[in-house]
Parts: sequence; C-alpha cells; structure tokens
Amino acid sequence: MDWTSKLFAGLLLVIALSTARAANPCALREVSSDHLVCVCNATYCDTLDADTEVPSGQYVLFTTTKAGLRFAKSSGSLTPQAKAADVAFTLDPSSTQQTIIGYGGSFTDAAGINILSLSAPAQENFLRSYFSPEGIELNMGRVPIAGADFSTRPYTYDDVADDDDLSEFKLQPEDFQYKIPIIKRAMEMSRKSIKLLSAAWTSPTWMKTNNDFVGFSRLKEKYYQAWADYHVKFLNAYKEQALDFWAISTGNEPSNGIIPIMRFNSLGWSPASQSKWVAENLGPAIRNSPFNQTKILGLDDQRFMLPWWMTKMFENKDTYNYIDGIAVHWYWDNLLPPYLLTATHNNFPDKFILSTEACKGDRPWNYPKVALGSWSRSEDYMADIIQDMNHWVSGWVDWNLGLDMQGGPNWANNFVDAAVIVNKDADEFYKQPIFYAMGHFTKFVPEGSVHFTVEPSSKKGISTTAFTTPSGQSVVVLYNRRSSDKKVTVTHPEKGSVSITIPKNSYNTLLL
Ligand SMILES: *[C@@H]1O[C@H](CO)[C@@H](O)[C@H](O)[C@H]1NC(C)=O
Ligand SMILES: *[C@@H]1O[C@H](CO)[C@@H](O)[C@H](O)[C@H]1NC(C)=O
Repeated sequence: MDWTSKLFAGLLLVIALSTARAANPCALREVSSDHLVCVCNATYCDTLDADTEVPSGQYVLFTTTKAGLRFAKSSGSLTPQAKAADVAFTLDPSSTQQTIIGYGGSFTDAAGINILSLSAPAQENFLRSYFSPEGIELNMGRVPIAGADFSTRPYTYDDVADDDDLSEFKLQPEDFQYKIPIIKRAMEMSRKSIKLLSAAWTSPTWMKTNNDFVGFSRLKEKYYQAWADYHVKFLNAYKEQALDFWAISTGNEPSNGIIPIMRFNSLGWSPASQSKWVAENLGPAIRNSPFNQTKILGLDDQRFMLPWWMTKMFENKDTYNYIDGIAVHWYWDNLLPPYLLTATHNNFPDKFILSTEACKGDRPWNYPKVALGSWSRSEDYMADIIQDMNHWVSGWVDWNLGLDMQGGPNWANNFVDAAVIVNKDADEFYKQPIFYAMGHFTKFVPEGSVHFTVEPSSKKGISTTAFTTPSGQSVVVLYNRRSSDKKVTVTHPEKGSVSITIPKNSYNTLLL
C-alpha cells in the first residue's frame, strides 16, 4: 500500500468504527417473579450486532441469563493452555457430523394477523427482530398450505365440493393479507436467503372419507392424483407471487387423522398408504413439474413415530428416492430417547432430519397457555435444540412467529405459547426467553455450518453442542441449567483454550 491508500484505509476504519452502532439493550420488564420479557414498541426494540466474526486469537461470548442478561457480550484472548476449571470441554472439529440447513419460525395466518395488529413501526421492529442483520436472523420459514388451526376459519384452496379437476383452486385472502406480504418483508430485510418449507394440514373435505376438516379421516383413493396436483398448483400459485419454496412435506401430522385427539385440521394416513401416494402421485407430480428441485419431506410428525414410519414408507424404493428428508415435531420429546433420531440417521444416512414444529403450552393441562416471560419454557427449547443438534438434526423450526396475549388466534381454540407475544392494545410486543434461547443458535450458526462433537457433551449441569461455520469460526453453545456459576474451559486443538465463567441458569454462545 502506498501512503494515500493507507490514509484512505485508515479513514474508512475511522468511519466504520464511528458508525458501528452499539446494540440496543433489552428493555426488561418483570411480568412476575422470575418472568422477564424484553419489551419492544414503535420506537424501541433491542438489537444485536450485525457482525459476528471474531479476530483470530480472540473469543467472544454472548450470555443470556434467567436473571435478565440478554446476549450480554464479553470477549478475551485464547491461551495455549487450559486453566483449572469446574468442567473442561474439548472440541473435536475433525469429528464432523451433519451440515446445518438452518433455523426458522412459521408464517401462519395467526402470526400475520398479530404482526399486522401493531402500528407500522412496531411491525417493522417485530420483523427486524427475527430477520434483519440486527436481529436473530432466521433463515427458514414454514408456511401452512392453506389453513391450519392457527387461522380464524378452517379452509383449503378448493372448498367447492367434487371439483375433481381443481378448476376452482385458488389462493385465499389470508395468503394475500397475512402470508405473502409478510414473507416478502422478511426476505427484503434479511441478508440471508430464506428457505421456505410448506405443509398441508388437510385436503379439501370432499376428498376425504369423513367429509370434514377434523377427525378420523383418510384420503379417498380416487383423489390421490388430485391431491398431488393440488400441491403443484400451490407451488405455482406462490411462484406467481414471486415466492419459491425450498421444500414441501407429505402433510402435517398424519397421526392426527388416525388418533384424532386434537380437533383441528388433519388428514390421516398410514405409512403404507402415504408411501403409495408419494410413489405413484406426489413424487411424480413434483419431479415432472417446474418445481422438480423442491425437496420432499416425509413424516412431519412426532419423534415416537421414528424410525418405524419411515422404515415402512421406504419399503417402496420409489418413495425412498422421492423423499429428501425427514421432518420431525418435538411434542413428546421429553419422554422419548434421542436414540430414535440416531437410529433414523443410521438407517437412512442420505436423508437429512429437520425439526419442523415446536411450541409450549400445547397440553390441555398447560395453564396459562401464554406463560409470559417464563424461563423454564425457554429451557425446554434450549435443551431440545441441543439434543437434536447432537443427534443428527440439520435444522430447527419453531411454530408461530408471534401470537396474541391469549395464544391465538386459533379457530379450534388450540391456544399455545410463542417466542414473541403481541399486545395490540398497548402497541407492544414481548420477546420472551424462548426468543433468546433460539437466537443463541439462529444468529451464530449459519446455513452450511457443520456440527462436530464436544467431549463431554454434558457435565455438571452444563450441556453443549458445537459447529464450524463456513468461514471457519467455531461456535460452542453452553447451557448451564444449575443454580450455580461454573468455571469452564473450552479447548480447540489448534486455536487454543478459553477460560470463562458460565453464570447460573444461563445460555451462552462462544465464538472463536
Ligand atoms: C417505547 O419503549 C421505550 C423504551 O422502553 C420507552 O422509553 C417508550 O416510552 C415506549 N413508547 C411508548 C409509546 O410506550
Ligand atoms: C426441472 O424444471 C426446470 C424448469 O421447468 C427444467 O428447466 C429442468 O429441465 C427440469 N429438470 C429436470 C431434471 O427435469
């Protein structure tokens, strides 16, 4: 460099340093004892630094605590030797496992209704919290194909009885009000490429054995092809609105139409009948369409159905070839060993596994549905994401991006909790501890990161999981579930050691 370019570079650095905005801190509100939310409104919302790259030889630590820290940033230098500590973690970046596809939330009708119930600047803060470089930067969005229970009515894209050739198929007002514009705003403010995945909750009722949106049902066999064509029409209708889907699933929670405890939109399948439909109808319809690159996800239902549901479906080789990945929901994970995921991976190593739905407050006995500011609900998220990442899961997608104070709207009164709760009367929204638990992954583990093992993965109440990002940065998430601070060392075989104190009841993301 000659002196003019040096001067110019120096000048740029000064400009960069003086314009780099410090992150806005959380406007903490104590809802009740141990229940804290970050309050955002039309004029204020907490933010994160856009830049997450760490200089070599340094580490940066982001910490969220039950006591009220949210992404508190600290930093320091790596040392050649690990110091004495309560727990010593050793990274093994050469033991690479699954590649991360991403993390996301769901663009339901309910989410759209809640976002739009805010003033325009508060809406902007809501979406920026999730998608902008100053937010937690989700890169995936799940979109119901037509209505789900988180809609204000049950509907599909063709509710005209016996419309065998789908000539009445059309997107509904909900798509144009609550989904398409919001997805586009999220995409415009994101520096990531947002992958959309979709799933139908039910077919039109006239295709079903019970002619109803809910309850015990099967697809009538004479409509197998029409139901596959419906999916292509959906992809085409969104394409006309300039939105492309990365994936579709074989249908949301087929078990709900077999064991209809939940009274909301569902379509029942057995693995054998669904496999036949995929092999003979859905697979060929998608692969022979302009949407031939769209991934097809199997299952889209609970962990306890793994691996047997997919084993049964994959008895048909055509189905095996059509299905790209396996989508799993979290609802009974606390009772189920993660070995079911490992077994699924071991049986079908070329099919990725993706967690596609999660929420708290879903059990009939969970009251209140929205436990505003609950730390313990966020711990269920943190524990489940860590467990999934340590058992071959390539990504994790939350349910509704935002719900109202009641946990809705939901036409079937199936109210639940969400990471962000909207209070339209106050023109405020509340980022719950769940939001920050997810952010400890979504912000720092970009698509293309590779998971590797840490030894031990859990000790003295601290669970951990780790990744190498595409730029070569190491990301280690450490969750302390105990009520005492812990001295921890994290040692990377080439980069050196980090000695830090992990506060009691905390989530930590360490970058080095
Ligand atoms: C919005 O939040 C900020 C920060 O908490 C607060 O100072 C301001 O008064 C709030 N605005 C309204 C209209 O409540
Ligand atoms: C996939 O669809 C695109 C767009 O219609 C087409 O150009 C391409 O040839 C198709 N690829 C295959 C393998 O069919």
